[in-house]
Amino acid sequence: MSKCLLVYYSQGGTTSRIAESIAKGLRAAEHVVDLHNLKDGPAPDPGAYDVLGLGTPVYYFRPPFIVTDHLNSLPDLLGKPFFVYVVYGTDCGDAGNIVRRALERKGGKEIGYSRYFGADYFFGYLKRGYLFSPDHPKLDEIARAEVYGREITARLGGREYRKAEYDGPTHRVYRLERFLVNRLFVRQMYSRLFGVDHAKCNACGLCMKLCPTRNISGDKNGHPSWERNCILCFSCEMKCPKDAISSPVTWSLFQPFMIYNIRRASRDRRVEMVRVVHAHGHTRIVG
Ligand SMILES: Cc1cc2nc3c(=O)[nH]c(=O)nc-3n(C[C@H](O)[C@H](O)[C@H](O)COP(=O)(O)O)c2cc1C
Repeated sequence: MSKCLLVYYSQGGTTSRIAESIAKGLRAAEHVVDLHNLKDGPAPDPGAYDVLGLGTPVYYFRPPFIVTDHLNSLPDLLGKPFFVYVVYGTDCGDAGNIVRRALERKGGKEIGYSRYFGADYFFGYLKRGYLFSPDHPKLDEIARAEVYGREITARLGGREYRKAEYDGPTHRVYRLERFLVNRLFVRQMYSRLFGVDHAKCNACGLCMKLCPTRNISGDKNGHPSWERNCILCFSCEMKCPKDAISSPVTWSLFQPFMIYNIRRASRDRRVEMVRVVHAHGHTRIVG
């Protein structure tokens, strides 16, 4: 029996559903599994665990900054076994590669890698009327995650692991997009450009509650004010019931990229898509 720490970040709930299913597979073999969502705060010390799991959604063809920060904070893993999974809406880019290599650089030993589709609530696409991978992960993917947990168990018991291939190179346009939302630009530029329409905002505080990095505080009237630790998840703007928040997601600079991504994903037979209308914090499927 091993003690496993499965750390993930999940804002929309898909990465956490996969985590629970992997944990079910591991627990079937009596392993003790502690789950931790990074949006609830820093993860526990990995030193007390025999095996580490890391689950990440894909943001901008890489892991979100909240996951990279966690990886950077890890101590030397001293040969500890680890497994990774990624959840993505259209194209996982380098997210899996980045996480796997980071854990290896920390001295861990890989014993598994897997990928799943998750409903893509990227606000830039929703605003244009597109929701990719709706209803994912589906039941078969949830079941596959449980099997993955059982495979991890077998490898912990000594079964040989033939290392999974690294994901292929990220398309050059996607690499450019990733560059445009690099950390420096987010800190120095985009995070300053969130704004609130005081006439519309009713100071409900939902944006502050949802922010995964606690980057939003209330001013004296309860209206939101943004600091620099933004990960560009756009949850604040997307969920605002009064549509009071604005951000760089609507900048015309980004519109050609949105159109390109939507066209490319729509042509990809592996990716499902539905048309939606998004307003007042809700996404409604229309076709
Ligand atoms: C800000 C943001 C950026 C995203 N970027 C990508 C991306 O580059 N590629 C992709 O395939 N999916 C992308 N997605 C989709 C997420 O990876 C997917 O929805 C995932 O299931 C979200 O996980 P969660 O529900 O656990 O938060 C993005 C989603 C958001 C919110």
